[in-house]
Amino acid sequence: MKEEIRRLLREKNGVLLAHNYQPAEIQDVADWCGDSLELSMKAAQSDADLLVFCGVHFMAETAAILCPDKAVLLPRLDAGCPMAGMITPRQLEARKQTLPGIPVVTYVNSPAAVKALSTVCCTSANAVQVVESLHVPEVLMTPDRNLARYVASRTKTRVHFWDGCCPIHDAIRATDVHQAKNAHPQAIVMAHPECRMEVLELADQVLSTSGMLRFAKASNHREFIVGTETGLLHSLRKENPGKTFYPLSDRMLCPDMKKIALADVLHCLKTLQGRVRVPEDIRKSALGAVQRMLKVTG
Ligand code: 13P
Ligand code: SF4
Repeated sequence: MKEEIRRLLREKNGVLLAHNYQPAEIQDVADWCGDSLELSMKAAQSDADLLVFCGVHFMAETAAILCPDKAVLLPRLDAGCPMAGMITPRQLEARKQTLPGIPVVTYVNSPAAVKALSTVCCTSANAVQVVESLHVPEVLMTPDRNLARYVASRTKTRVHFWDGCCPIHDAIRATDVHQAKNAHPQAIVMAHPECRMEVLELADQVLSTSGMLRFAKASNHREFIVGTETGLLHSLRKENPGKTFYPLSDRMLCPDMKKIALADVLHCLKTLQGRVRVPEDIRKSALGAVQRMLKVTG
């Protein structure tokens, strides 16, 4: 199946992008693996006509926002992100009325129509930098309350938060960190900012998925506890054969990120089904918010 996927990608001038949480066999057949933003930027830079995005819906949408001339396919259209489903444009409009004049910083894990109503987007890798770049006393951060609390702990800006979260990261508690540390006392704890503050406070490093990959590679430490979705362990282990990685918890498994199988990729390449489109008016406004973020992070 992998050979057939690669052959069809060549034939159709396509590239296959896989998020760091995807199943190992999908990561292994991809042109690029990365975090949500890196993948969209790779997509925008490529001269491919077709982008097969193995991740969840908001990621394919972000690629469609940045690449209007390319066809973006999501091999399983039912792969969504529950956090992105915790906010709607109508709800955001109503909240904005209660916070007049306050800029809205929206995590990329959100629907395109919500990005379109936001001042600027951010990712887990650049949220603090994006908020500080605004030079304002207050912001509203959506939709992840944990990322918002983390940013509030790192800046002087007052952060109003939206009551959304990633159910997978939010389910982890301080007791899980204590247990993992007791089992592996020499290991460095890396945690994703979608985790609760009680977890982040116990972590040695708070990093995005690609931040974890870079940190583990550069570090002299040999053992790491990985506080994010367990799909990341595949790349960590592959890139660092001499180092050992333990999941912070076996419960850190995102069912949506595990929906796409090789057979789905093959099917979508053969049929070109699974196209993700963003209406042009929404795309243009959302692009403004994404581009303002890209300007901040260079
Ligand atoms: P990053 O890969 O951008 O760190 O995001 C994590 C995540 O949960 C994506 O769904
Ligand atoms: Fe969404 Fe969490 Fe799954 Fe990422 S890991 S796609 S934030 S539910």
